[in-house]
Amino acid sequence: MRGRFKKWAEPLINENPKLACFDYELNSNQNFLEFLNKAKDNLILEIGSGKGKFISSMASKFSSLYFLAIEKNVSISGICLKEIIKSEVGNVFLISGDFEKIYPQIINTKFNAIFLNHPDPWPKKRHEKRRLTHPNFLLKYENLLNGNNLILKTDNLDMFNYSLETLKENNWNITYLNYDYKQDDNFDALTNYEEMFINKNIKINRLIANKKGNK
Ligand SMILES: C[S@@+](CC[C@H](N)C(=O)[O-])C[C@H]1O[C@@H](n2cnc3c(N)ncnc32)[C@H](O)[C@@H]1O
Repeated sequence: MRGRFKKWAEPLINENPKLACFDYELNSNQNFLEFLNKAKDNLILEIGSGKGKFISSMASKFSSLYFLAIEKNVSISGICLKEIIKSEVGNVFLISGDFEKIYPQIINTKFNAIFLNHPDPWPKKRHEKRRLTHPNFLLKYENLLNGNNLILKTDNLDMFNYSLETLKENNWNITYLNYDYKQDDNFDALTNYEEMFINKNIKINRLIANKKGNK
């Protein structure tokens, strides 16, 4: 997701330590630890939250669950945080940073679900490792999920087919597959990108996968 540099974003994140932080020293960040402690076994992760429509809607809809948003672009993190503040939800925490840098710090945290919503497709073969469904990422999700669901939706059919094949090759079970998803799953919400694609009549692809047997 591209956008202009927002110079207010970093100060906004620093001014709201109970709602957001940057991606360093998470294990000594008392606000983040308190959030994890409150969430206990009711924690959901979204990687690449963008402008925050999805995570804010989900948090309002499912007030007994806790949502961790990760967004690597600082300016977009700022927009996401504004959306979280506007929604007045108390069950979301945003980490502004790259999932790859955050992962070693949350390696022992377990999630009930991980959402990848319209991830960057990185169409060039030489960028394959950056795709959020590359096998290197799947190994990390396997650890964080402990058998629970990975939920992917994307407008990009090549990215979707790549993800489906990669998941199968890595022995994930595909429990749901839809090439024309109509936003009819209650455990879901519209994202900023998705709204734009729907308005352009572009089909949304969605799958749910798990890797059981390692609990
Ligand atoms: C195409 S946008 C989609 C945003 C949002 N999920 C939506 O559907 O509206 C992808 C977002 O993922 C973020 N992103 C990509 N790779 C990431 C990573 N490794 N860690 C955290 N965020 C990432 C990008 O900065 C971008 O904002």
